[in-house]
Amino acid sequence: MSGDGNDLAVATHRKPLSLKNVGRRCILEEFHEIQAYDCMSDNKKRLAVFCSGTGSNFRALFDAIIERGLPAEIVMCLSNRSQCGAMDFACEYGIKTVHISESQFASHDEFARAMLDALREQRIGLIMLAGYLRKIPDAVIAAYPEKIVNIHPSLLPEFGGHGMYGMRVHEAVITSGETRSGATVHFVNEEYDKGRIIMQHHVPVLTGDTAETLAERVLRCEHRLYPDALEKLLAGEP
Ligand code: GRF
Repeated sequence: MSGDGNDLAVATHRKPLSLKNVGRRCILEEFHEIQAYDCMSDNKKRLAVFCSGTGSNFRALFDAIIERGLPAEIVMCLSNRSQCGAMDFACEYGIKTVHISESQFASHDEFARAMLDALREQRIGLIMLAGYLRKIPDAVIAAYPEKIVNIHPSLLPEFGGHGMYGMRVHEAVITSGETRSGATVHFVNEEYDKGRIIMQHHVPVLTGDTAETLAERVLRCEHRLYPDALEKLLAGEP
């Protein structure tokens, strides 16, 4: 930690691709060919943003790509909800919207297949989760090793894991008496909030803070952090 509020944490290990589930192997193999085929167009990384809610981080990424001239293009917004702020924003800016919810499918495998098909169709090279409140199917994680990124509203590994999302995170931070919180960008693996950390920013927890006031401060921090992390990833930094 540098202590300047722009701390960078880089972990050192990489999890190998899991092919334990033979039933999914054909999906994975097929997908590796596609990844090799094309994940760029006009030298721009093709991004999918997955959202379930307001999509303020989605907007922050969208704006930063334009303002900073980043070599990326958000070509798809995928959501488990047919309508939400993020999907409205995507429609407004002509970004393809894809509504995929597990309840639309007879099985989890079919759901995973539909998600993979949607990603393949758009030749997605990087997936950014921005308030997506569903677990990513293992088959998708295996097809995109270290190509799925999430932002979490705490300084992981603290206050992460199953069930730790939204206001629950900030309530837990306040209850714990911590004097600082923040946000973390990390790769997504099969375990909630356990993938390799890419970057963290911290904010103070102030006397008199409520979960709501802390949430606002952390969200403002996220809007700087997520674009910074994207820029780093696009520059090929680990
Ligand atoms: C953010 O706090 C993010 O850390 C978490 O979900 C929230 C999404 O907010 N993963 P928004 O939809 O981007 O405004």
